[in-house]
Amino acid sequence: MPSFRRLDDAAVKGKRVLVRVDLNVPMANGKVADSTRIAEVAPTIAEIAGKGGKVILLSHLNRPKKPDPKDSLRPVAAEVARIVKRPVAFAEDCVGPVAQAAIAKMADGDILCLENTRFHPEEEKNDKEFAKKLAALGDIFVDDAFSAAHREHASNTAIVTVSKLPAYPGRAMTAELKALARAFEHPEHPVTAIVGGAKVSTKLDLLGHLLAKVETLIIGGAMANTFLMAQGHAVGKSLYESDLVPTARDIMAKAKSLHREIVLPVDAVVAAKLSDHAPSRVLAVGEVGEADMILDIGPRTVEHVISVLARSKTLVWNGPFGAFEHEPFDNGTIEVAEAAAELTTAGKLISFAGGGDTVAALNIAGVTDRLTHVSTGGGAFLESLEGKTLPGVRVLIVP
Ligand code: 3PG
Ligand code: MG
Repeated sequence: MPSFRRLDDAAVKGKRVLVRVDLNVPMANGKVADSTRIAEVAPTIAEIAGKGGKVILLSHLNRPKKPDPKDSLRPVAAEVARIVKRPVAFAEDCVGPVAQAAIAKMADGDILCLENTRFHPEEEKNDKEFAKKLAALGDIFVDDAFSAAHREHASNTAIVTVSKLPAYPGRAMTAELKALARAFEHPEHPVTAIVGGAKVSTKLDLLGHLLAKVETLIIGGAMANTFLMAQGHAVGKSLYESDLVPTARDIMAKAKSLHREIVLPVDAVVAAKLSDHAPSRVLAVGEVGEADMILDIGPRTVEHVISVLARSKTLVWNGPFGAFEHEPFDNGTIEVAEAAAELTTAGKLISFAGGGDTVAALNIAGVTDRLTHVSTGGGAFLESLEGKTLPGVRVLIVP
């Protein structure tokens, strides 16, 4: 792991501390629908405020191209206040006189949330002049927004490179970076990865990087269908990518030459259509007919995957096994998730998971708290698993 400044060493008392957080949370009817990301950054906010720093929160929400009331952070700031259990003031702009005036009013230990950084198109352009305006609002920069670190934007990248602000990773960012290092830099072997999801095409870099790092690669989700085709199995009406069948074949050949094991489904739950409680049956992968759609892994595959986890020391998981949004096609993912949680609780497995769909599936399984680390990152987690140093992390590295 590269070296970073330590928040413990930051003299925050009386200082204006710009804290980049990812308040890009799901909203419903003008209210925060899932506050997981807020809960993750609350300790950093509370700690800096508790030490007498003036906490100035910077974040984006959604993808507005200009100011739009429906993308305002105001209701999110109220949720931050509820979770941090301290008042959180709000300023209707993240730069300029409105932001400056709100900051001028702050006492030590106060918390202020600035309006959505994406209300300024310069944010996504990583614009230097805009970044200078943001940087001028603070004395210290803390980035706790791991889930936005794959974006090279003004509020997490240029804000550091154009300024002399000392930049620190926050507590949640540090936890994410430590977990990644524990999985990839000094893992306990054997390491197993589960990669699921719909498409091989979106996970090529990931598969390539993982093959170099893990002993066993378990492939699930619709992307497994492309591999089954490469093995010569028919997949009926299932989702697969015909143009990637040769690539899947190459990946299997590469795995063989590297002495890596690739685990593919040996049986499947199939239905005629994808809907809740669609009538389904279990077939061996060689028996899938023209009218069948593969929607989950079958019981023999579940058993095999669990036996692989039982002989692993480290697990990295991205992507569900089946069409988990529709019962009962979430079964395979839930059973594997329960096994991973049990092995982790028993001290036999170190388990890391992340990605939007993956976390949603783990929440359905109710195991999120029992895995070693569940990342808040979607794209950021995936790109980290591909071996990339994220732009928002790179600027925090002390040379
Ligand atoms: C996320 O939700 O993945 C981050 O907040 C980044 O948001 P974006 O995908 O809109 O850039
Ligand atoms: Mg997103």
